Amino acid sequence: MDTKVSALPSQADQKLQQEFNQWAAAGRGDEMEDHHSDITEQTLALMDIQPADRILDLGCGTGWASRRMARVAAAGEVVGLDVADEMLRRAERSSTAFKNIRYVWGSAEKIPAGDSYFSKVLSVESFYYYADQGKALDELRRVMAPGAQLFILINLYKDNHYSLRWMTELKVPVQALSEAEYKALLEKHGFRNVQARRIPDRSPTPETYSGKWFKNAEELKDFKRIGALLLIGETSR
Ligand SMILES: C[S@@+](CC[C@H](N)C(=O)[O-])C[C@H]1O[C@@H](n2cnc3c(N)ncnc32)[C@H](O)[C@@H]1O
Repeated sequence: MDTKVSALPSQADQKLQQEFNQWAAAGRGDEMEDHHSDITEQTLALMDIQPADRILDLGCGTGWASRRMARVAAAGEVVGLDVADEMLRRAERSSTAFKNIRYVWGSAEKIPAGDSYFSKVLSVESFYYYADQGKALDELRRVMAPGAQLFILINLYKDNHYSLRWMTELKVPVQALSEAEYKALLEKHGFRNVQARRIPDRSPTPETYSGKWFKNAEELKDFKRIGALLLIGETSR
C-alpha cells in the first residue's frame, strides 16, 4: 500500500487522512461498527448483493461492511477504499480469512480503479466529508459499470437537525445538504432513477444518555427515529 501523503489530490484529503488516522489509532474505527450496523444492514438488504457482484466500499474504515458484503459476493470481489491508511491496516488485519477483499488507499475524488469496473457501490457515513462531492460523484460514475447501483448512507444532512450539531465539533470541514439538494446533485452528475429514503436506526437506546451529542436519551431516540438518509442512484445502461 503506497501511503505517501503527496499522492493525495488535495490538502483537504491530507487533513482527512491525518484526522481519520487518529480516529483509527484511538480505536474509533472499530466502534463505528456498533453505531452504523443497524442502518447498514437495512441498506445491504436493499442492495440485493449477488455472488458475482464487484462492490466498492467507499470510505470503508476498518472494513466491517466490506467483510459482510464479501460473504455474499463470494464469487465476486469487494474493494475497500479509504483515505486513512491506519484504518486500512486494521481492515487488512481483520480480513485475512477473505480471498475476495482488497483494500486500497486513496481518495474518493481520485479513485484508483479502472473505468466501468464495479456493479455496486456502498458508502457508509463518509460522503459528507468530501470537499468536492461533485468530483467524487464523477469518479464514481467513471468506475461504475453501465446499470450499476450506488448506495450512499449518511447520518449528517440538513433534514436531521440533530446531526448539524456535529459540524462545530468535528475537526475537519463537512458538507450539510438537504435530501432535495443531494438528489439534485446526483442527477446533475449523471445518475439516473435517483431516490432518497429515510433509514431509522432501530438499535436499542439505553434509558440514560451520558454522551456529548444529545441532551438526553429522548433526543437520541428522536435522532434515530428521523434516521439516516440513503441516496440511491444508477449509471445509465
Ligand atoms: C465516519 S468514518 C466511517 C467508516 C466506515 N464506513 C464505517 O461506517 O465504519 C468515515 C470514513 O471515511 C473516510 N474518508 C473520509 N474522507 C475520505 C475521502 N475523501 N476519500 C476516501 N475516504 C474518506 C475516513 O477515512 C473514514 O474511514
